[in-house]
Order: sequence, then structure tokens, then C-alpha cells
Amino acid sequence: MSLIEWKDSFSVGVPAVDHEHRELIALINRVHDNLVSGGSRDDVRQFVAELSARISAHFALEERIMREARYDQYKEHKQDHEALLDEIAEIADDIHTDAAALGDRLSTRLEAWFSEHFRTHDARLHRRLG
Ligand SMILES: [Fe+2]
Ligand SMILES: [Fe+2]
Repeated sequence: MSLIEWKDSFSVGVPAVDHEHRELIALINRVHDNLVSGGSRDDVRQFVAELSARISAHFALEERIMREARYDQYKEHKQDHEALLDEIAEIADDIHTDAAALGDRLSTRLEAWFSEHFRTHDARLHRRLG
């Protein structure tokens, strides 16, 4: 069972962005499945690195779009992106937790963050820029 289900409320109304968001969710679910099914700490490190790289790439794309459009909430939006990347790094660095527990913590946090971020920051951005 995948942990994060796509919901209609996630849609920001721009097919290309929705497609990228769906791919991020699929990746998060893969990370979760792999970690809870008993990965090693090396697996955790590798998954977190891939996850962070993919999420960073998506954020970089959005931030470029915002800069080019001189978007009025660029700073706030970018801060929310950075907060998530910091949090992922922090969770992954917790050496006192095993891979399964880390997988749970990561995916719980990611689901909460993405649900909120899609609904607020990303929805506003794409409503503004069309
Ligand atoms: Fe996004
Ligand atoms: Fe965003």
C-alpha cells in the first residue's frame, strides 16, 4: 500500500506541475516502501540522497519561474522549500532510529508538508502565473 495518495486538492491546475508533483509522491512512496520493508542505514542514506536531489530539482524549477516572473511571495515560498530540505536532512541524520522508523517519520512528515504546500504556496503561485 502506498502511503501518500494523490488527492484532487493537490492539483494546482497546471498539468505539467501536477505531473511533477505526482512523480514526487511516487518517489516518496517508493522510499517509504523500501525503508519500512527493512533497509539498512546505507539504503536510508541512498534513498534520502535521491529524494533530496529530486525534491531540490523541483524546487529549483519553481524558484526560477518565480524569479523570472518577479513573483511577490518568492521569499516566503522559497523559505518553505528550504525548511523541508533541512528537515529531511535532520531526520536522516538521526542515528538513533532504525531504517523502518526513519521511513515512517520521513513519509509522515513529507505527506504533511506536501499536502499543505501544494494547497497553499504552490496553488497560489500557479493561480497567479497561470
Ligand atoms: Fe511544487
Ligand atoms: Fe513550491
